[in-house]
Amino acid sequence: MYAAVITERGTPPVHREHPEPVARGEHERVVEVLAAGLHHLTRSKAEGTHYSATGVFPIVPGVDAVVREPSGRLRYAILDDTDLGTFAERTVIDVRRSIVLPDGADPVRIAAAMNPGMSSWVALRRRIDFRAGQRVLVLGATGSAGRMAVQIAKRFGAAEVFAVGRNAARLAELPALGADRALTFEEIAAAADADVVLDFVWGEPAAGAMLPLLTARADRSTPLTWVQIGSMAGPTAPIPSAALRKARLEIVGSGIGSLSARDFLAELPELASAVTEGALDVRARAVTPSGIAEAWNDHRSDERLVYVP
Ligand SMILES: NC(=O)c1ccc[n+]([C@@H]2O[C@H](COP(=O)([O-])OP(=O)(O)OC[C@H]3O[C@@H](n4cnc5c(N)ncnc54)[C@H](OP(=O)(O)O)[C@@H]3O)[C@@H](O)[C@H]2O)c1
Repeated sequence: MYAAVITERGTPPVHREHPEPVARGEHERVVEVLAAGLHHLTRSKAEGTHYSATGVFPIVPGVDAVVREPSGRLRYAILDDTDLGTFAERTVIDVRRSIVLPDGADPVRIAAAMNPGMSSWVALRRRIDFRAGQRVLVLGATGSAGRMAVQIAKRFGAAEVFAVGRNAARLAELPALGADRALTFEEIAAAADADVVLDFVWGEPAAGAMLPLLTARADRSTPLTWVQIGSMAGPTAPIPSAALRKARLEIVGSGIGSLSARDFLAELPELASAVTEGALDVRARAVTPSGIAEAWNDHRSDERLVYVP
């Protein structure tokens, strides 16, 4: 079969022949890949920088995909750590880490949406005690996960959604997706009464936003739950100690590890249905195998590239 193969650290994949996959365990199945998203996790695992990367090459990247079983049924599958990812004509899935997709599911839209969508969906449903009527601030709202978070927070009944980002043109699109206010980092004090922050940015920008936000709160003893989800601006953030004293700030993280794979999987069918019904706006761009090397280094952040073998 053909696959996108990374032969050494730091190089983009090349489209070339690769050995056919073999299912081993009782729950493993060889399946046909229809579409696989090029997510940050895809790149960071492949480049050996994610905490779960194995560091062994060559590898076929790809952490998840829409696949077709021999029966013709479509599934969305998440792969465990493996050298054979989903950027291939065929791969091996563990059926226990997959869900059956609803009729009419569009493989490219599903492949684009599930990873960024599940970040906020699972955080709000499973990681914190979010209740309808609370106010949600999305930090890094202009990316794939942020755009989904704005829509998902609204869908879950947020009273107000504050979309915060650095790109004014991209921010201007977010009220149409449900954001009540679209704010730059400099304007973050206008979101001071948020109950929950969904933070995809971290690093200096997130740390720098804390005091202006907390200082402007009408009642600083009202809880604010800051959910660390992504770290686009850096893996560490110099959080001022005053941020933890002068307001009732609680910082938690949400991702695989702080939540079990079972927690993620339990939420995926409803997310897949919402995407299939068109209830969530998804920006996806299909990439052919011959275009994968170029796409690998294309970091436009408002559309998700999807490998279609
Ligand atoms: N924990 C989980 O469950 C989970 C699941 C999925 C994704 N994630 C993580 O969530 C993060 C976002 O993923 P994504 O798919 O939305 O990525 P994306 O589509 O590339 O979007 C990245 C976002 O971060 C912003 N950004 C990047 N660098 C920044 C900086 N220095 N200062 C301020 N803003 C910055 C971008 O702003 P511009 O639009 O201005 O470029 C954009 O809003 C990633 O770290 C990803 O790994 C976590």
